[in-house]
Order: sequence, then structure tokens, then C-alpha cells
Amino acid sequence: MSHGISNSSVGRKFLMALSGFFLMFFLAQHLAINSLSLFSKDLFNEVSHFMGTNPLIQFVLQPILIFGVVFHLLMGMYLDSQNKSARPIKYAVDNASENSNWLSRNMLITGVMILLFMLLHFYDFWIPEITTKFINGDWSGIHNGEFRYWEELHHKFHNLVRVIIYCIAFISLGLHLAHGFQSSFQSVGFNNKHSSTIKKLANLYAVIIPLGFIFIALFHYFTSL
Ligand code: HEM
Repeated sequence: MSHGISNSSVGRKFLMALSGFFLMFFLAQHLAINSLSLFSKDLFNEVSHFMGTNPLIQFVLQPILIFGVVFHLLMGMYLDSQNKSARPIKYAVDNASENSNWLSRNMLITGVMILLFMLLHFYDFWIPEITTKFINGDWSGIHNGEFRYWEELHHKFHNLVRVIIYCIAFISLGLHLAHGFQSSFQSVGFNNKHSSTIKKLANLYAVIIPLGFIFIALFHYFTSL
């Protein structure tokens, strides 16, 4: 091959892209559900309770999500190390501007920032949730006579330091998505004549998703003062 990329490396990039698409879909639905917390406490609570107790979501989709995250992380590190040893310039993107070069070179850095964020995020939300359900055996979702989800979320964003850390992480996420989105399309062979449209879509997605999360974090911060 003229690119000097082995077939298996193409296969790995393809799988990397697939896991990336899956995570982008997850992020969009995560943002959609979190957005409910902005205007309806009840609706957010109902949907959160459904997501947190539905067996299909808990025991099928959640393990798939965990697998997707771990796979994306490990494969990303592997591909990055391969790229580094194979050639001085990584990511064979032909029409890369200086900007996208910068983004592609920093996928590992922004990826690690997201990983650190996820550790904090799991500590904040996921671990208490798992503890309540699986250790305390409480699947009711009720605290002090009403669903606890909205209150818990609202309370978490009362802390300015946490809000700042989250917002920095969301900016890293935007940088990661800006390159990751269009790179995934290239890896599944969707480049050349569509590339400018895809880049626009990528940029739009990479701005809207993090901005949405930032808005939610700030909303809960300012309304809990
Ligand atoms: C303002 C922004 C965000 C808020 C308020 C938020 C809130 C939550 C909440 C309440 C949960 C539920 C925990 C549970 O019941 O299991 C959760 C889970 C999760 N969040 Fe977020 N999140 C935000 C941003 C993000 C971002 C940007 C990412 C990824 C980069 C992310 C990744 C996850 C993952 C992977 C889970 C675990 C899903 C599962 O339950 O299996 N979140 N988040």
C-alpha cells in the first residue's frame, strides 16, 4: 500500500472509529438526558430512574458502554504508540491544516484529560449509584420521600472547583471530538469528496456537545448559590 499501512492497522483504525462513533452516540444521549435537568426536575428524575433501573440498560447496554470506553482507550494508546514508532508525522491525513495537525497530535493528551475527568466523574456519580443499588440493595431511587437524582446532580455542582475542573474537561473533550469525529469518518473510508461537509459536521458536534455540558454545569452552579 502506498501509505505503508498494514491491513491489520487499517482494521484497528476501523475498530477505533467504530468505538468512537458509539461513544459519540452515547455522549449525545447523555447530553440529551442531562438537558432535561434544566427545565423539568420531574422529567429528569423519571428518565434517570428508568435508565438506572431498566435491566436492558443496566445489564446489557452498560457493560457494552464500559467495554467501548476501555476498548477505545487501549486501542487509542496502542495506535498512538504505533504511529510514533512508524513515522515522524502521525495520522495520515492528506489535507490537514495546521490546526487539525495540532488536534491530531494531541489526541493522546486530550484523551488522558478525558480519562482523568472520567475518574472524577465516576467518583461523583457512578460509584455512589452503584453503591446504593448493588451494595445497599436500594433500587427505589427515593430519598426523603422523592426521587433523589435531580437533587444529587444539583448538589454536586454547588462546588465551584468541581465546576471549573468539569468545564476544563469539557473543553478537552471538544478538542478531542473535533479531530476524532472527522478522523473516524476517514478511517471508515468516508473521506475525499465529502470531507468538507464532514469537517463542518465534526466541528459543529465538537462545539455543541461540550458547550451543552458546560451550560448544564454552570446552570446548576448558579441556581444552587
Ligand atoms: C454536566 C455534565 C455531566 C453531568 C451532569 C453528568 C451526569 C452524569 C450522571 C448523573 C450519571 C449517572 C451515574 C449513574 O447513575 O450510573 C453519569 C454517568 C456517566 N457519565 Fe456523565 N455527566 C456529564 C458529563 C459527562 C461527559 C462529558 C462524559 C464523557 C466524556 C460522561 C460520561 C459518563 C459515563 C461514561 C457515565 C456512566 C454511564 C453508566 O451509568 O454506565 N459524562 N453522568
